[in-house]
Parts: sequence; C-alpha cells; structure tokens
Amino acid sequence: MAIIRDAVPADAARLAEIHAVSWRTAYRGLLSDGFLDSLQPTTRLDWWNSRLARIPPRWAVLVAEDEGGVIVGFVTIGHCDDDDRRLPEAGELYAMYVDPDHWGNGFGRILLAGAEARFRADAYSDATLWVLRDNQRARRFYELGDWHVDDAEQRLVIGSDAVTAVRYLRDLTEG
Ligand SMILES: CC(C)(COP(=O)(O)OP(=O)(O)OC[C@H]1O[C@@H](n2cnc3c(N)ncnc32)[C@H](O)[C@@H]1OP(=O)(O)O)[C@@H](O)C(=O)NCCC(=O)NCCS
Repeated sequence: MAIIRDAVPADAARLAEIHAVSWRTAYRGLLSDGFLDSLQPTTRLDWWNSRLARIPPRWAVLVAEDEGGVIVGFVTIGHCDDDDRRLPEAGELYAMYVDPDHWGNGFGRILLAGAEARFRADAYSDATLWVLRDNQRARRFYELGDWHVDDAEQRLVIGSDAVTAVRYLRDLTEG
C-alpha cells in the first residue's frame, strides 16, 4: 500500500535522483541524448535543498512511498504562474515524476489524486499543467485523470533543444 506524504528536507537527495533518472528515460527521443546523459543524481540537488528548506504558502511537495518506505515519485504544486491565469483560485501542477522502475504501478495515479486533494484544501478551484507536446505517455495519463488540453502552447528551450509544451486544465470543482 502506497503512502503519500509531504516532503521533508531529508528527502532532497532522493527527489533529485528521481528527477534525473525520470528525465533521462521519459524525455529520450524528445530532448537530445547529450543533454539527457549529462543529468546526474546530484544535478538538481541544490535546487531541491533550497526548495524543501522553505516551501511557500499554498505550495506543496508530495511524495509517494512504496511498501518499503522508499520514495518512488513526487509532485509539486502551487499557484499558477501563467500571465492569463494569475488568479488566487488558479493552481498549477509544476512537475510530477515517478521513478521509471515503478511506472505503471499506480503511483502516478495516487500522486495526482493527492495533488488534487491538496489543491482543493488550499482553495484552488482549477489547476493547469504544462507537458511536452510529444510526451504521449504523460498526456494519456493526464487525460485519463480528467485533465483536458486547452488552447495554450509555448515554445521552450531545454538544454539546446527547442520544444513545444501544451497546457492542460483540470476543473477541481468536479469530482
Ligand atoms: C506520467 C507518470 C507520472 C505516470 O505515472 P505512473 O506511476 O506510471 O502512472 P500509473 O501507474 O498511476 O498510471 C498508468 C496507467 O494506469 C492507468 N490509469 C492512470 N490513471 C487512470 C485513471 N484516472 N483512470 C483509469 N486508468 C488510469 C492507465 O491505464 C495507465 O496505463 P498506460 O499508461 O499504459 O495507459 C510517469 O509515467 C512519469 O513519471 N513519467 C515521466 C515524467 C513525466 O512525463 N511527467 C509529466 C511531466 S508534466
């Protein structure tokens, strides 16, 4: 039985590790090999240390643990940063990553449910997320969870790659 809980500063190293390994696997073929291969378990460690040292109000970092108490995925949420959605009730799912060794075991689904419950508890009435247009696995996953693509797109440069991201919206007033 998986457990969802708020992350604590001691989780930083494991979250940085999942972040790297998940990018290297999920974005293979979408971003250049050289960039992905340069990502190491410590690449994002400083970011995670500072993030977990002070989580802003109405933000959350939730982790999923397997039966052995090992963190296998995380989700980060907070207010929406998009210019057209700077409203107090507009949330954003910033990132969600599950260790590839555990994909397809339901951890993503319970993380998403945990994120949606926290959005509601923090008085958000809807939420968006950005996902790479060609990230078919993630898009299918979100669509199964009642997230719907809206008409917003953006071009991003990640490493040396120019990619397109599309936005999804979830109405949190629905069940
Ligand atoms: C996308 C991701 C988070 C999903 O996590 P996961 O733990 O593999 O997901 P789950 O096991 O909970 O769900 C996957 C399966 O359960 C089923 N499922 C998930 N949610 C469902 C729902 N609400 N209703 C019905 N079925 C559902 C689907 O059948 C899906 O199988 P499929 O992908 O073969 O069609 C994970 O693959 C991942 O970390 N990917 C890389 C990072 C990434 O792309 N993150 C998103 C960036 S925005």
